[in-house]
Amino acid sequence: MSDIILIQGSLNKNSKTAIILDEVAKILSEKNINFETIDLRKIKMEFCDGRDLKEYNEDLRNSYETMKAAKAYIIGMPVYCYSVSGPLKNFLDITCGTMENKFAGIVCNAGGIMSYLASADLMKILSYEVQALSVQPTVYAWGSDFKDGKIVNLKVLGKANEMVERLIQYSYAK
Ligand SMILES: Cc1cc2nc3c(=O)[nH]c(=O)nc-3n(C[C@H](O)[C@H](O)[C@H](O)COP(=O)(O)O)c2cc1C
Repeated sequence: MSDIILIQGSLNKNSKTAIILDEVAKILSEKNINFETIDLRKIKMEFCDGRDLKEYNEDLRNSYETMKAAKAYIIGMPVYCYSVSGPLKNFLDITCGTMENKFAGIVCNAGGIMSYLASADLMKILSYEVQALSVQPTVYAWGSDFKDGKIVNLKVLGKANEMVERLIQYSYAK
């Protein structure tokens, strides 16, 4: 059982969202926080169609149980069409019931500098559907923040540190 679940929401094998979540994982390790990552590239996905949880495959049922046991979440969100990417939204449609009244940090990763407010769609989904509150700051990164598979804009890592601090403060106080 892990306290914080990182959800890596990109299916791209060269995902930049995954690069930032690796950095977030390092921050959590340094703080001795018990966490685990659900990387959507590593699970067998099914489309959400409103069936009972028990009718989804084992990967999705296990993801649900892992998330249910956690205190908080950090969601790595690729921006597609100025919003949450389809695969991540589908995963949350199936699993977000586990997040009710808990806290989440958002890592929003886009191709361009102008898509920051796409993260507000995720905040809205979590807030209205399961009263899960997203902590600030939201971590935002875009194309030029990366070089050779690494983050070169240190401000992104600074924001990630702040977000993790805030998430721990809120979720461990409950
Ligand atoms: C279908 C699609 C739609 C996209 N829409 C946007 C967008 O609206 N704004 C933006 O800044 N980037 C957009 N992008 C670029 C992605 O956000 C960018 O490639 C990002 O790195 C994706 O995360 P990933 O590398 O973890 O997969 C889009 C990419 C795809 C494939």
